[in-house]
Amino acid sequence: MNRPGDVSKPRTDVREEWEARYRDGKVGWDRGEPSPVLTRWLETGRIPEGRVLVPGCGNGHEITDLVMAGRQVTAVDIASQPIGRLAARLNQLGLAAQVVQADVLRWQPAEPFDAIYEQTCLCALDPANWFDYEQRLAGWLRPGGILLALFMQTGVSGGPPYDCSLPDMRRLFDPARWQWPDEAPLEVPHPTGLTELGFVIRRR
Ligand SMILES: C[S@@+](CC[C@H](N)C(=O)[O-])C[C@H]1O[C@@H](n2cnc3c(N)ncnc32)[C@H](O)[C@@H]1O
Repeated sequence: MNRPGDVSKPRTDVREEWEARYRDGKVGWDRGEPSPVLTRWLETGRIPEGRVLVPGCGNGHEITDLVMAGRQVTAVDIASQPIGRLAARLNQLGLAAQVVQADVLRWQPAEPFDAIYEQTCLCALDPANWFDYEQRLAGWLRPGGILLALFMQTGVSGGPPYDCSLPDMRRLFDPARWQWPDEAPLEVPHPTGLTELGFVIRRR
């Protein structure tokens, strides 16, 4: 895993890369519908009431279900195209959410969140930025808030998607700050053929 201080790309280049992926239809991660893990976590009461952040929301198939389940949702993505589509879909459905085009490594919310649904935004970020992102996630959650994390398993170096191996994740989300569950992770099949590992982690 890279360390703070490693060089990462200028942020405008990063945004352009994601815009190009959407423009060229290279969106192999997109399920076209909400992830089954969201439904399971909603049904089993793992997603607290209140304010929920979805960073790197993409086309945001999960956002409508979260809003319909009564959560106050903020959805953030660096790319304008999925953000525009999501805002239009919510509008059509008469649903309300805060939809923001922003870089999660620059953006700051006005108020903390009760939960963050982290579905493969981390694996989209250059690992040189992971420590910064972890600090931000911790700062955005209220104490006792819940991080619903889906860690992408690629088993290879390079990316995106970057491999979020469990040893790296346990180092990044330090147990001194994050209370990891005792239960085994959920294995969630990804449209690319890869697997996400789902954890419900509590910010101490
Ligand atoms: C692998 S896709 C996942 C999208 C969505 N969560 C899903 O599972 O369908 C990663 C998303 O993160 C967004 N992204 C990448 N870097 C970002 C950044 N620095 N800030 C905000 N969004 C970012 C991309 O535009 C893309 O939509």
